Amino acid sequence: MTRSSGNGGLPGRLVAVEGIDGSGKSTQITLLYKWLRGQGRRVFFSEWNSSELVRGATKRGKKNQLLTPTTFALIHATDFADRYERQILPMLRAGFIVLCDRYVYTSFARDEARGCSPAWLRQLYGFAHPPDMTFFFHVPVDLALDRLVQARSEPNWFEAGMDLELETDPRESFLLFQGRITACYLHMMQEFGLTRVNAALPIVEQQEFLRRYVAERIPLEGFEVGTEYVSQDAYGPFPPETVERARKGKAR
Ligand SMILES: Nc1ncnc2c1ncn2[C@@H]1O[C@H](COP(=O)(O)OP(=O)(O)O)[C@@H](O)[C@H]1O
Ligand SMILES: [Mg+2]
Repeated sequence: MTRSSGNGGLPGRLVAVEGIDGSGKSTQITLLYKWLRGQGRRVFFSEWNSSELVRGATKRGKKNQLLTPTTFALIHATDFADRYERQILPMLRAGFIVLCDRYVYTSFARDEARGCSPAWLRQLYGFAHPPDMTFFFHVPVDLALDRLVQARSEPNWFEAGMDLELETDPRESFLLFQGRITACYLHMMQEFGLTRVNAALPIVEQQEFLRRYVAERIPLEGFEVGTEYVSQDAYGPFPPETVERARKGKAR
């Protein structure tokens, strides 16, 4: 995977959000998705770790704490490859703006923090196009932890990096592990040209920044859809005929 952005001449556009757990990615990408949909744009949303194909194995492996750093990385790479080939790429070919809640950089950061080789990880995801733009939500780790605890409960086993046995207390472990991940993201800003967002700011300010950034770089008027909105939630895995319909809808 190279630094240069671009989607290999495909008509769609690829936008990704990245950052540690609790940095506010899902909040922001959901608002962006609704904004684009509300304008009647061809937009598609895909979420990390959501492939039906490996769901059972991922769940079992995590629940029973069976995953090693290598199998953790591979199972997520399989999840991503499945969504990439059956959803993301077809939708880019069909001329959609594809929004990804986490992309390959999640693995580059998280699996390196678990001890995987950075070179191996980059090779593993060599099939994936770099996004047109990737927002890195940069937030102090203690603020992210506060948000998570407030929103639901303690960080879970893998979020806290408990498998690494850095600390016995999950919160302390979270701070160390997510700190390592943040260091990897900061390094990748240079390597892959990630766009930093100050994720400590209020939700509205961040969203205003994102909308402005996207509108300045994607000719949105070229992404209008007639009547059909497509989302991963609504349709599940993409059958080729849906993609074909979407493509024809564009030509009409
Ligand atoms: N800018 C913000 N200020 C305060 N709280 C926020 C902000 N952004 C998100 N949150 C809250 O923090 C929690 C985690 O946000 P979320 O978007 O799920 O993060 P992520 O997807 O990065 O893990 C949620 O409860 C959300 O409402
Ligand atoms: Mg999220």
